[in-house]
Amino acid sequence: MARRIPEPFRIKMVETIRQTTAEDRRHALREAGWNPFLLKAEDVYIDLLTDSGTGAMSDRQWAGLMMGDEAYAGSRNFHHLADTVREVFGYAHTIPTHQGRGAEQILFPELVKRCRGQRPVFLSNYHFDTTKAHVELAGARAVNVLTPQALDTGTAYDWKGDFDLPRLREIVAAEGDNVAAVIITITCNSAGGQPVSMGNIRAVSELAREHGIPVVIDAARFAENAWFIRQRDPAYAGASIASIVREMFDCGDMFTMSAKKDGLVNIGGLCCFKDDEALFRAVQVNCVPMEGFVTYGGLAGRDMEALAIGLKEGLDDAFLSYRIGQVAYLGERLREGGVPIQTPTGGHAVFVDARLLLPHIPAEQFPAHALACELYLEGGVRAVEIGSLLLGRNPQTGKQEPSPFELMRLTIPRRVYTNDHMDYIADCLIEVKKRAGAVRGLTFEYEPPILRHFMARLRPV
Ligand code: F0G
Repeated sequence: MARRIPEPFRIKMVETIRQTTAEDRRHALREAGWNPFLLKAEDVYIDLLTDSGTGAMSDRQWAGLMMGDEAYAGSRNFHHLADTVREVFGYAHTIPTHQGRGAEQILFPELVKRCRGQRPVFLSNYHFDTTKAHVELAGARAVNVLTPQALDTGTAYDWKGDFDLPRLREIVAAEGDNVAAVIITITCNSAGGQPVSMGNIRAVSELAREHGIPVVIDAARFAENAWFIRQRDPAYAGASIASIVREMFDCGDMFTMSAKKDGLVNIGGLCCFKDDEALFRAVQVNCVPMEGFVTYGGLAGRDMEALAIGLKEGLDDAFLSYRIGQVAYLGERLREGGVPIQTPTGGHAVFVDARLLLPHIPAEQFPAHALACELYLEGGVRAVEIGSLLLGRNPQTGKQEPSPFELMRLTIPRRVYTNDHMDYIADCLIEVKKRAGAVRGLTFEYEPPILRHFMARLRPV
């Protein structure tokens, strides 16, 4: 086994977490309608629901909070943030937003308005669930064009976040003027936090430019993607993370970012434009009624300061090596214990293949969600389903869509849990694997009409 990379920080403040009994957990899960989203966080021992907004800020970021300029308009912190965006990404125009979906809701309607076709469509390697929701709210379709290699979780492939380029070409040719934008999601969360190669980013961007299609980068985990490019593409072996980031963003026209991931903050987002000033102005107009005035977009001045600092801390080599190494270590422990996972492990999470671990549970009984419930019962670890429950029904037909994946995501917050916590998580899941045959599927007691996974109530069949 590769040597573990120790945490490149020491701990200055601790937050107590509480272990519960098996009886406590059974009671809590029943109360929560067999939906870990509805648990009280205090009933969770190790929380792997998401890496979004759950990271620990540094001493420098906490110091930045004290420098908040809470002016309604034109605060010093906004200018620091916009300058940092210019430096890190090379984009001229910045709109802060309260989080990633805030950027999506103000941008996508403008892209739909500009689309010349009658049936606008967005093409992505994979739309994140809120991204798909905002595409549909804007009256467009969301089509995923992911490399088929990503679907085979057992076989290693370096670039499981790539677009399927031949298929993308076909769709662009067939849809013509309907293509409102191409969204490059780095890393590709839904495929397992998998990276997109520089070659693929460049090819997608060139194809889009040939057809006059705008390129949006969904940049939530941009630094992790850059780290994978340096690690896996020999052409970038000696490159700095900062230079790889610049090269990736040169291929885009604009980006939306949930800054709650690689931005290393608990709240915040960005909507930025390389040079399209007209589009920037139009999106600014949407920002005011939805997010707030254009120099704060739903954030306090102190939040923008923490983000300006976090964007640069997130590029640090020692941090990224430890971060992605910690996720890989958990993946290795699970693989050794015979738990099937998306291979190789991604940047922010280990994705367990529930279709393989619980083959007796059909998709409509949500095997990955059942597994997440079982892991909670075992050790108070909260994971999340990325599969049929999350995908939901087709908005036109009302039918459950077939999900390409039935994955349980063990999402690792940044700078929060130690490597000993990783061992505990692996031990719990390996215990669950021993009684996999006895795990039951789930059925709805209450099914919300959209984004149902958040509020659904279920029971074992
Ligand atoms: N894009 C990607 C790739 C994401 O992973 C997320 C959020 C968003 C957009 C939306 O950003 O939450 O700040 O509004 N992902 C979180 C997750 C919630 O758990 O994966 P947001």
